[in-house]
Amino acid sequence: MNAIHGALKPETAPALDVERIRADFPILKLRVKGKPLVYLDNAASSQMPRPVIDRWVRYQTTQHANIHRAVHYLSETATAEYEAARRKLQAFINAREEREVIFTRGTTESINLVMHGYGRKFIGQGDEIILTTLEHHSNIVPWQMLAEEKGAKLRVVPVNDRGELELEQYETLFNARTRFVGVTHVSNALGTINPVKEMIAAAHRHGVPVLVDGAQAAPHLNVDVQDLDCDFYAFSGHKMCGPTGIGVLYGRAGLLESMQPYQGGGDMILSVTFEKTTYNVIPHKFEAGTPPIAAAVALGAAADYLTAIGMERIGAYESGLLDYATVQVNRIPGVRILGTAEKKAAVLSFVMDGVHPHDVGTLLNEEGVAIRTGHHCAQPVMQRYRVAATSRASFAFYNTMAEVDALVAAIRKVQKVFG
Ligand code: ALA
Repeated sequence: MNAIHGALKPETAPALDVERIRADFPILKLRVKGKPLVYLDNAASSQMPRPVIDRWVRYQTTQHANIHRAVHYLSETATAEYEAARRKLQAFINAREEREVIFTRGTTESINLVMHGYGRKFIGQGDEIILTTLEHHSNIVPWQMLAEEKGAKLRVVPVNDRGELELEQYETLFNARTRFVGVTHVSNALGTINPVKEMIAAAHRHGVPVLVDGAQAAPHLNVDVQDLDCDFYAFSGHKMCGPTGIGVLYGRAGLLESMQPYQGGGDMILSVTFEKTTYNVIPHKFEAGTPPIAAAVALGAAADYLTAIGMERIGAYESGLLDYATVQVNRIPGVRILGTAEKKAAVLSFVMDGVHPHDVGTLLNEEGVAIRTGHHCAQPVMQRYRVAATSRASFAFYNTMAEVDALVAAIRKVQKVFG
């Protein structure tokens, strides 16, 4: 776990054939503003390779019907493919059982599911929830809503200047009222890889369950939920070469069974009368209504695609890109990188003297370079660094050193424009 950012020796991780990989991604051939597209907004959404696109098309053209509902050929085929995708995702995160893998719309819905299903049942007046300064809004706002509803309290783990969580402070936040911990595996705004395994062990010593937001980790790290020993793990398909509108919630079977359903509707029931409804077993209890079947099948293909390349090779390659980019950007006077943690993944956030990030993004776009600018849905991180926004380049395994050079050249050009 967490073998990334220079931690992996080159001989254990052969370099990727990045040109061959790029050939799988039709969108990377685009030209923007007459220049080759340099896509460095992967933390917002990654691109989709041909095998995943083809899988979607094959499902839709030869296998589609509704699932779990009929005995005809197509319904049985679609059901089998959907459940096969669940097993692929189970293998991708090394979950013990396939029923521990729930398909959701994405990380945000996964976290909201836990808030409603677990939080509303087990967290009450005066109880405490520990979060960290590095959380995305999707792992803050649901818990804040719960805290307001129940009269519970949020406690927040601070970060140091490098963007690393202050673990001694974390330990001191636990008390007899602590009921839950939510922590991001990788910060979307800074790239920090948090020591979630140690944090989970600490929470468990206090008998407290932990949800890990893995949205920015699943595309870059070898995630093993059994090794982490987490209670919940949430991630999105569209950040790991899959489609939008699909994601996963991993939950420990026993915990999922103890939770109340998130949404009511078809497929999540065993029997319904106007007097009483009996709920279905997990995972179906949490998959009300017709799910995004094609998206789930395509996400299964995305997991296969990443696994075939190898998550450790992906992490090691991206680590090389990030190291190179960090050195190059650090050489530009007037540019400051935010987030200099020892363990980082694939994200380079920076601010430029005298230039608003929005202008940086706009001018980089003129060079064909796509980055994200703004608060990155992580306003507490921005407040910690006393900035309103940053410019963020985020890398994937299909990016190249030449693209890092294009980013650096474009940043220098912005400086020239602004004198
Ligand atoms: N959470 C995504 C990002 O960091 C959208 O850009």
